[in-house]
Amino acid sequence: MYDSVLFDTAPWVILVSIFTGIVLGIFRSKAIQNKIIGDGRVIRHNGSGFFQHWGTALGIFALIASGIIMGFLFFPTIIKSPSGFIFPMNMHFVGLIVTLFGGFYFLTSYLLSKKIGTLIPDSKDIIHGTFGKYILRKTWTPEDKYLSSQKASFLLFAILGLGQLVTGGIKVAAHIWSLSPSLMSISTVLHDIFSLLFILLLLEHILFVVLIKKHRILLASWFKGTVAEEYTRKEHTFWYSELQKQQLEVADSEEINK
Ligand code: HEM
Ligand code: HEM
Repeated sequence: MYDSVLFDTAPWVILVSIFTGIVLGIFRSKAIQNKIIGDGRVIRHNGSGFFQHWGTALGIFALIASGIIMGFLFFPTIIKSPSGFIFPMNMHFVGLIVTLFGGFYFLTSYLLSKKIGTLIPDSKDIIHGTFGKYILRKTWTPEDKYLSSQKASFLLFAILGLGQLVTGGIKVAAHIWSLSPSLMSISTVLHDIFSLLFILLLLEHILFVVLIKKHRILLASWFKGTVAEEYTRKEHTFWYSELQKQQLEVADSEEINK
């Protein structure tokens, strides 16, 4: 780990992590959830959702920490000798493997879930549910499973993540093939700009959870897996009625199978 750069010696592990994420994501998408509402609680996340969010977050924290150690834009590197770069480069590699596995696992199960709309914002989510609600302080209640502001932030995470993937992919390719210096410098500048924007978005994501009480309820749901039925009925009206419909369909099919 300390005397060789994993981007040079083991780039194939990157493909293995993407492939494993996709395969497990396919299995995940086939899992069926029966009981949705019960005892005044609503199921919001399962073990796999917890693992996707926090596993990917852990990998991204390693990418950010190693990136800061290597230095970018106006953050100078803290490394004193060329050999000192091996550790943060390998940390970037390990963070990348974890992130790609978690990211592709999430992406595959999400795309196959037939519920694409749960995380993609429309113009109302952006204008009324994000700017109107948080900046103009206007009332906005017709929320889905994910709040409009969460959907807007997911879209930004996805755009920046894609930018990191493409520019980072070019930087990985440069460890295998010889690429033109101009392509490399453009990729590095863009990778660094995306990094800065990503860090700012992550700070905003964390601040929302820490500062806004209704978002803190959702933080608890990552660990308990459930939220109160009453909270869901009031704050996630669309989602609640959809869940009630689903619950009835499950009950009907159980009745038929008896
Ligand atoms: C949140 C995500 C990420 C952040 C914050 C981040 C940040 C950084 C930073 C700050 C650097 C050092 C400056 C530079 O060389 O540009 C760097 C280097 C690098 N990053 Fe990322 N990165 C992320 C994701 C990725 C991804 C997804 C890949 C690959 C697909 C990747 C591959 C690389 C490579 C290969 C290097 C250069 C290592 C070297 O040869 O010196 N990064 N990254
Ligand atoms: C790089 C790290 C992170 C990324 C990329 C990320 C991304 C996301 C995304 C895309 C969502 C909405 C979709 C989903 O639930 O899968 C989400 C939800 C959430 N995240 Fe993060 N997150 C990160 C770190 C964190 C951290 C450090 C916290 C803790 C303060 C946090 C707290 C939450 C909460 C409370 C939710 C809402 C859960 C719910 O709606 O039930 N996230 N995150």
